[in-house]
Amino acid sequence: MSATARQKAPMPAEIRAMKGGTPIVSLTAYSTPMARMMDAHCDFVLVGDSVAMVQHGHSSTLSATMEMMILHGQAVARGLETAMLVVDLPFRSYEESPEQAFRNAARLMAETGAGAIKLEGGETMAETIHFLSRRGIPVMAHVGLTPQAIHTLGGYKVQGRGAGAQQLLADAKAVSDAGAFSVVLEKVTETLADRITREIPIPTIGIGASAGCDGQILVVDDMLGLFTAFKPKFVKRYAQLGSDGEAAIAAYAAEVRAREFPAAEHVFADEAPGKSA
Ligand code: KIV
Repeated sequence: MSATARQKAPMPAEIRAMKGGTPIVSLTAYSTPMARMMDAHCDFVLVGDSVAMVQHGHSSTLSATMEMMILHGQAVARGLETAMLVVDLPFRSYEESPEQAFRNAARLMAETGAGAIKLEGGETMAETIHFLSRRGIPVMAHVGLTPQAIHTLGGYKVQGRGAGAQQLLADAKAVSDAGAFSVVLEKVTETLADRITREIPIPTIGIGASAGCDGQILVVDDMLGLFTAFKPKFVKRYAQLGSDGEAAIAAYAAEVRAREFPAAEHVFADEAPGKSA
């Protein structure tokens, strides 16, 4: 979406209304400069709990905390004018009860200005999604590979193959019926992602799913080549900022050691330029 197409961020209801239309564009962001780079190009920006891995060096998203989500959510909010902000509820901030989920979701929205929260889970989270969405909290759901459940899922496997397909379809229907305004489908087979997209009335946002989803999301550090510890098959790298950045740092280090930097144009004379001696 172009920056001139609208002057303010869409509401969750507007994202929902994009079902079946022009694909919804989204990325994750964790900082103000990144948010500024993508604001004009994305319909919504997600402060994902992937922040724990890509920005804080943890080995999974389980280490994300409310404090992390709020700090990064506030930073991203400062960089957005036209894209909607969505913030993830981190692991252990919502699973106990709908009331716990409400307390933490309300805090995330109040302290970051987010227009919606995202949480992971299908049928088991339907009651919570219903509770939140009836109380002023727009919910983006997330089914398929749900990284917060990595230990019960048994790894970062493709979801929806074989017998798992029926449960995944039921999960997507359950979150939609419960009132979610959209749902992320992560690492779901193409055929099943297309079927879910056809059969539920809310937009599906694919990550490792299908081009037929109503929208797409990627982790920005993955698509810019900043996070290089591993590359999932579903990631396309649109830039190589990690290796370009390292080459720049190596060039700087070499120039400092050779006393080539700073050069004449980077240092200050006794007299300001333009003043006669
Ligand atoms: O945390 C995250 O970055 C996410 C996206 C992968 C959708 O949930």
